[in-house]
Amino acid sequence: MKDQAESLRQLVRRRLPQTSRTIAITSGKGGVGKTNISVNLALSLVRLNKKVALLDADLGLANADIVLGVYPNYNLTHVLQGEKEIKNIILEGPLGLHVLAGGSGVYDLANLGQWQLERFIRSMEQLDQEYDFLIIDTGAGIHRSVLSFVLSVDEVIVVTTPEPTSITDAYGMVKTIIQRTPETNIRVLVNMAAIPRDGEIVFQKLNTVVKQFLNRNILYGGYILRDPNVARSVLEQEPFVLAYPVSSATRSIERVAHTLIGDEVDTKSQQKGIRSFFSKMYNYTIRK
Ligand SMILES: Nc1ncnc2c1ncn2[C@@H]1O[C@H](COP(=O)(O)OP(=O)(O)OP(=O)(O)O)[C@@H](O)[C@H]1O
Ligand SMILES: [Mg+2]
Repeated sequence: MKDQAESLRQLVRRRLPQTSRTIAITSGKGGVGKTNISVNLALSLVRLNKKVALLDADLGLANADIVLGVYPNYNLTHVLQGEKEIKNIILEGPLGLHVLAGGSGVYDLANLGQWQLERFIRSMEQLDQEYDFLIIDTGAGIHRSVLSFVLSVDEVIVVTTPEPTSITDAYGMVKTIIQRTPETNIRVLVNMAAIPRDGEIVFQKLNTVVKQFLNRNILYGGYILRDPNVARSVLEQEPFVLAYPVSSATRSIERVAHTLIGDEVDTKSQQKGIRSFFSKMYNYTIRK
C-alpha cells in the first residue's frame, strides 16, 4: 500500500493547467438543509455561467436525485470497477447541471490495484479541465464516512440553522476540520433564518468561539431565509430556484452563489481540485 500511495503522490504532484473548486456542503446536525442548498446552489452557479458538477455523496440516503428528479442508474462504484467510464455516469440535470452519484464508490478506492488507481485518477484530471465547481452533498456529523469527503476538498460550507443544538454541532464539525486539515477554507452558512440579521448573529456566535478556542477565523457564507416554498419544492421534486424563482429562498441562495464566486480564496495548498480530492479520499480509505 505504501508504494502505491507514493506513486499516487507523484502522479498528483504534476501541476494541472486548471483545477475545479471542490466544495463540500456539510453540517454537524442532520436535516438542516444541506441537500436543498447543494442542489440550488449548484443551479445558481450554473445560472451565473459556471460549469458545475454535483456529487451526491450522502451514503445514507441519496437525496439530491430526489430533489432534482434525476435518477442515476450508475455511480462511481461502476467507474471504479471498470464497468463504466466517468462520462457515462454523469447525468444532465436542469439548466445543464451535471449530476454524479457517489454510491459506495469511494470506499472501493481502497481495493484498486496500482494500474486501476492511476487510470482512475487520470480520468479525474479531465473533470478538472471541464468544471469550475464540484459541489458535494454529504451526510451530517463527524463520522468517518462524512469526514473523508469533508477532509479531502478545498472548501467546506458548514450549514447550521439558528437553533442552539445545530450551532453546537456545527462548532464540533468546524473544530474537527481545523484540527485535521487546517488548510481547508471553512464557510458557515445559516439556513432557515427568520430575518437576514439572524445569519450575522449566528455566524458571530460561532466565530467568537472558534477564535477563542481554536485561534482561527472562519468565513461567513451568508444566510438563507426560512421559506415555505422550500418544502413545497421538495414535494414537487423541482428545485426551488426553478419552481419559485422570485421567492425569498431563491434570492438568498443567489446571493450566496454570487459571494462564493466573488470570494475565491487562494488556498496555499498545491493539491487542489478534483484529482486531488480523489487522491486524498484514497488516502483516507486506506488509513484504517
Ligand atoms: N430555507 C428553508 N426554509 C424552510 N424549510 C427548509 C429550508 N431549508 C430546508 N428546509 C426544510 O428542511 C428539510 C430538510 O432539508 P434537506 O433534506 O435539504 O436537509 P439535509 O441537511 O440534507 O438533511 P439530511 O441530514 O437528512 O441529509 C426540507 O425538506 C425542507 O422542508
Ligand atoms: Mg441531505
